[in-house]
Amino acid sequence: MRRRDFLISAGATAGLAAWTGIAQRPEAGGSLKATVQTNATLLAARRQFDLADPLPLRHYAERKGLRYGAAIQRNYLSRDPEFAACFARECHLLVPEGELKWRTLRPSLKQFNFAPADALLQFAQQNQMQMRGHTLVWHQSIPKWFATEVNSRNAEGILVNHIQTVMGHYAGKLHSWDVVNEPIHLKDNRADGLRNSPWLQWLGPDYIELAFRTAAATDPNTLLVLNEFGLDYDTWQWNRKREALLTLLQKLLSRGTPIHALGIQAHLWARDSVRFFNPDKMRAFLQSVAALGLKILITELDVADHQLPAQLEERDRLVASIYEDYLSVVLEEPAVIAVLTWGLSDRYTWLARYHPRADQLPVRPLPLDAQLQRKLAWNGIARSFSFAPSRSLAFTPLMKS
Ligand code: XIL
Repeated sequence: MRRRDFLISAGATAGLAAWTGIAQRPEAGGSLKATVQTNATLLAARRQFDLADPLPLRHYAERKGLRYGAAIQRNYLSRDPEFAACFARECHLLVPEGELKWRTLRPSLKQFNFAPADALLQFAQQNQMQMRGHTLVWHQSIPKWFATEVNSRNAEGILVNHIQTVMGHYAGKLHSWDVVNEPIHLKDNRADGLRNSPWLQWLGPDYIELAFRTAAATDPNTLLVLNEFGLDYDTWQWNRKREALLTLLQKLLSRGTPIHALGIQAHLWARDSVRFFNPDKMRAFLQSVAALGLKILITELDVADHQLPAQLEERDRLVASIYEDYLSVVLEEPAVIAVLTWGLSDRYTWLARYHPRADQLPVRPLPLDAQLQRKLAWNGIARSFSFAPSRSLAFTPLMKS
């Protein structure tokens, strides 16, 4: 029996709750949200997250020709050696959470502050990990000095110089680069779906092509990624976003733009996953991306639990189900070559600040808990890797290592 069929026959996918008509038939007196949640909770409560032999996540992934990794900040390394050791044990890939963004890297127009990201690269190399670069072009993390120094006449030179200097500094050393981050934003109401970002305002829509061409010329041995969020659910808004993204990728590739992979951020929200994750739509989307000749990376996976019930076991089971259901569908697609979570342990997660719980309990969105113990979410990820079909690792010389 195929794994997917097993899950469905066991009635075990959290997503299934939303696709069996439950969503259309809330019980009398109960809200739709509560009903879907209850059904998902019941399914998760019956679920087994067993694993025969607990290995580090990187090993489960490597057995299938996949890579697993996580985001980290440089300051955790020095202040938390216990965390650093866990990170090195579980991860093959490391991505700096902020150290390669403009605000950290560029204190002024003339300065480049490589020290924090260099420290992370050194840590990666000492522990047989590979580092990813994140990110060269983004509408956020624009330094304050841009307000007085950057305009539409000099923006192209500044962007090209930034890419050449930063990618040049790490040339031949990084697994992949998020060259352009979050370029689509339908609410900006452009016909092409592009975000009306500062870069678009200075350079027009061709800033994307310019960035990728400059990147490819600077480091021909790294995987060039276009990274985006909001691609995971079957809602009117996100369906349109996936379509706009596919159109953009087709257009860029038809002009010969050197894009090698799509990065799917996958910041999942537990309650939305229960209601809106549609495995068939996700498979079709991944197949369309693969048909363009692109690889796919899951770049920033986490499962926000801020809207889930407080009870700890129930909460952890739901989060674990969502990890396993999402990844087992996504990893069916052979073009998916890597999975990174946005953090490794609940001790350090951006969601504590960005999506805290109303009851002020700590959030638990990541594979390890705040004491660095493996949670059911860890089992869910490991299980999805161990059931995934094998794939070949060939892309760049670096990726064979
Ligand atoms: C977030 C970091 O985690 C935060 O610490 C920071 O304050 C803001 O950025 N999508 C991205 C990441 O591409 O760079 C973001 O990281 C999370 C959303």
